[in-house]
Amino acid sequence: MERIQWACPAPMGLPLFDIQHLELHERLRRLLTTLESDPNGALSEYRFIQLSELTAEHFQAEEDYLQAVGYPDLAVHRWDHLKILERFRSDLARWRAPGAPPLSDLVAAFAQAVQTHLEKADRGFALWLESRSFPGIGGGRAGLRRLAP
Ligand SMILES: [Fe+2]
Ligand SMILES: [Fe+2]
Repeated sequence: MERIQWACPAPMGLPLFDIQHLELHERLRRLLTTLESDPNGALSEYRFIQLSELTAEHFQAEEDYLQAVGYPDLAVHRWDHLKILERFRSDLARWRAPGAPPLSDLVAAFAQAVQTHLEKADRGFALWLESRSFPGIGGGRAGLRRLAP
């Protein structure tokens, strides 16, 4: 199994998105636990799809917010989100075909892409918001919907 790493994201000082990043991290941790006992099974696939759905929901929340505040690099940021989700869809379709790589390889690629995005692109908009003295976004009820465990 390819080694999967997804470090706990450092807080950006934007409570809503920090909470969402932590939730994505928690979902990945749960998926990794499932992969150990069920490497290519239905529960792992289900949790991987759940993680991607939660990621898509998070991406949309970011894009909505960045549009509302007039973030100048929104198009690039949105494109990065789109590439990550498209890669997930094509990898999952490939995994369902005969002779596919293990699911853990696809999870590793997805985790790596999201981690890189969080560290670079998300950090970039956090710095821009800070430079413009935007107030932090509150969390609470605006957090992601709760998916089934
Ligand atoms: Fe993010
Ligand atoms: Fe993002």
